[in-house]
Parts: sequence; structure tokens; C-alpha cells
Amino acid sequence: MKIAVIGTGYVGLVSAACFAELGHEVIGVDIDKAKIAKCKRGESPIFEPGLEELLQKGIRSGRLTFTTDLSEVLSECSVVFSAVATPPGEGHKADLKAVFTVTEAVAQHADHDLVFVNKSTVPVGTGKKCEEKIAAVLKKRGVELKIPVVSNPEFLREGMAVNDTLMPDRIVVGVNEDPWARELMEDLYRPITRVGKPIVFMSRESAEIVKYASNAFLATKISFINMLTELTEKTGANIRDVALGMGLDDRIGPRFLHAGIGYGGSCFPKDVKALMATAKEYDVPMDIVEATDRINAAQRKRFFTQVLNALPKKAIVAVWGLAFKPKTDDMREAPSLDLIPALVKAEHTVRVYDPAAVETAKPLLPDDIEYCESPFAAAEDADAVILLTEWDEFRGVDLKKLKETMRGSDFFDGRNVYDPQEIRSAGLSYRGIGLK
Ligand SMILES: NC(=O)c1ccc[n+]([C@@H]2O[C@H](COP(=O)([O-])OP(=O)(O)OC[C@H]3O[C@@H](n4cnc5c(N)ncnc54)[C@H](O)[C@@H]3O)[C@@H](O)[C@H]2O)c1
Repeated sequence: MKIAVIGTGYVGLVSAACFAELGHEVIGVDIDKAKIAKCKRGESPIFEPGLEELLQKGIRSGRLTFTTDLSEVLSECSVVFSAVATPPGEGHKADLKAVFTVTEAVAQHADHDLVFVNKSTVPVGTGKKCEEKIAAVLKKRGVELKIPVVSNPEFLREGMAVNDTLMPDRIVVGVNEDPWARELMEDLYRPITRVGKPIVFMSRESAEIVKYASNAFLATKISFINMLTELTEKTGANIRDVALGMGLDDRIGPRFLHAGIGYGGSCFPKDVKALMATAKEYDVPMDIVEATDRINAAQRKRFFTQVLNALPKKAIVAVWGLAFKPKTDDMREAPSLDLIPALVKAEHTVRVYDPAAVETAKPLLPDDIEYCESPFAAAEDADAVILLTEWDEFRGVDLKKLKETMRGSDFFDGRNVYDPQEIRSAGLSYRGIGLK
């Protein structure tokens, strides 16, 4: 099947490369000329494991091409995906400007019936608005075309995006009374459903809500365990043991029960807040989601306050990890964006190390910090190390060597990666979250 994917960011580019890998003919479209030039050369504009290889393979096969000109690609496509960003807008509502721009552009340039698919995370009712916009453009053009709008939310995780796209837990498709659109979506995803992955069809409105509900639920699990960390600290309990004891219950499960400085990234913070904004519009209480958001902000602040209070004056501080999570260069809502300016403001010297996110981080961080080539280079003569992102390479660090490299001995583990005893037996003083 020939398809277009508009917006070649974290979601669109991975989707485009994976659809090409599955045998479809795919055209990636973006307004960002530099991004498209890189894609055409087979260079991934983002750090995402496995993506560049897939990109090059797709280009070599002739099934994956890129353009900045939407008008030249629609004529042969049966399905057009929109995967543009939906960042927080006024009152934390999802900003749908890019979605509507793309919707209208597709209606403007379409010359045959096609299915328009919203892959972006959009509030319930957006599909209907897109359909109205398409109808208005077609009317103005004086043409009669069938362009149904389908919701197909994306659940990939950055850092695991290729595997998540090729082998998803489920594919959710929201279609309203349009058997033709449903059949096309079934055909499109057959290479994945053929190997046993489920595709679930539902109304467009339900599919739109599934995405926000899923993210809010996962964020709630994180905030729930984080909510307990102050209690475990004050009572001498250990949050890891609490999570272990809870998570072995099949009904609860162990995932997303890892205590730390809370969630960040391009999705959970904005989607939690956007769900609250949608609920407010409909005058529906969203108490649990509100608490999730509040706890997340408080958790980050609580840890950062502990760090800032514990540091000596004009300390040298090594920050390990800048990205909001490992295996990505995405800096959106990363805790480092809060902590590092606070450290600089308190007149500490900040040295940072991140294996992938330095280039995306630089424009967002204060100028007067030092970027280092390794965790040890950052820790050289440091009073304290603060771990903010749990990159795998931090797990096996030689702790004795670290102690010798530093001039001080404070180790702040924002992700509870280390065993406190192990750190202490290396002569370092340990502070994690929710444990002694
Ligand atoms: N990043 C994730 O992990 C993730 C996971 C699931 C869902 N989502 C959702 O997917 C959507 C996209 O997120 P993302 O992280 O890929 O965003 P992104 O910012 O990485 O990518 C969006 C891309 O769209 C392009 N774009 C903007 N306007 C355009 C236009 N008019 N025409 C063509 N291209 C245009 C931008 O240049 C950019 O390359 C969002 O709604 C997000 O909430 C993201």
C-alpha cells in the first residue's frame, strides 16, 4: 500500500521507517527542510536505537522516500497519516494548530478518495473537527471526495520505538461507520496482525480517549509509588521492597512501580495536563489524574531541595544524564532542565555527561556549564554526583574509582539505580529516594 506520513519526528519517522520495513511504500513529509535533507541521506535526525539502520534499509529498497512538498505526494496514497506535534497550548490544552494545518492541506491537495489518520495524541472530538475542516475545504474547492478521519493513537516508547512499532502490544483504531476506512486500516496493519498482535476497532472518540487514559494511568502508577517514598523514608522502610511486594501481585504487576524523581518527557506531563483540561471543558472531575500531576511536581522538587540543601557552598557537581530517560536524546520536560539552572543559580560549578542528548540539551541549558566526555570526566574533583537519567552505562560504574576521582563523596541517585550499601562500601555517601 502507498502511504504518506506527515511529520517525521519521533513518532512519524519511526512509523514511516517501520511501515516501509513491513513492505509498504512510504513517503515521509515534513516542513523542516534540514530534517528531510538528513532523512534523505539516511541519517536519523534523532537518537533512537535501530532507527538509522531501518531508515537506510528503507531508502535502499526504494520503499521509503522523503519530501517537504505535500502537494506532490498525495496523488497515489490511499492512507495519509498525520504525526505532527501536539504540544501544550493555552490552559494546558493540546495545541492543535499543526494538526489542523495538515488536515486542511491534505483536503486542499487530495485528488482522489483517501483515509486521513490522526496518529498524534489529540483530545476527544478532534477527529470530528478534522472531518468538518476537510468538508469545508472540499466544499470551497467544489469537489466531492471521500476523506474519512480515523484515530490511530501511538503507544511507542522513545528508546524502544522501533520494536514497539513493529511488535506493539496492541493497535487501536477508531473509525466511525466507515467500512472502507476500516478495511484499509486492516490491510495496512496485516503484516503486524498476521504475527498475532491484536488490532482493536472502536469509535473514533473511544480511541482518542484510550491514548490519554493509558498515559494518565501509567503516570498514576509512577506517582502512586512516589507518593509513598516520603513515608518509607520517615519510617525506615524501603520503597524498593514495598514495590517488590506490591508488584508480585498479578493484579498490580511490577512495571511503572519504580520510585524516582518522577516522570518527564514529551508525553506524560503534557497528556496528563491535557486530559485534565479536556475534563474541565466537559465539567467532569478528574481527581486521580490531578493528584498524579501534583505528586509528580512535588517529587521532583522534594529531591532537588534535598540536593541543594546538602551541597557545600560553591560545590563542583557532576550531573549524570540529561535526557528525560535513557536511550533517547529527547530533552522535553527533562528533570535536568529544572535542576541544572538551579545549581548554576546557587553558584555551583556544573559538569554534565550524557551519552546522546548533549546536542539537544545545549540550547536549553545555561551557557556556563561544562560538557564532559565520560561520567568520570564529569566527576573529576567533584563534591557530588547527581544521577538524573538511568543510562545503562551508569549501572556498572567502578565505584571505588569514582570515589578516588571525586574530591567529595556525595552521591545523589535520582533514579534509585544503586544499592545504597554498595555505594557506601565504596566510601561514598548515598541518597536515593524512599530508602535509607
Ligand atoms: N514522542 C513520543 O514518544 C510519542 C509517543 C506517542 C505519541 N506521541 C504523540 O505523537 C505526536 C508527535 O510527537 P513527536 O514526539 O513525534 O513530535 P516531534 O516534534 O518529534 O515531531 C513532529 C514533526 O512534525 C513536523 N511538522 C510540524 N508541522 C508540520 C506541518 N504542517 N507539515 C509537516 N510536518 C510538520 C515537525 O517539523 C516535526 O518534525 C504528538 O501528538 C505526541 O503527543 C509521541
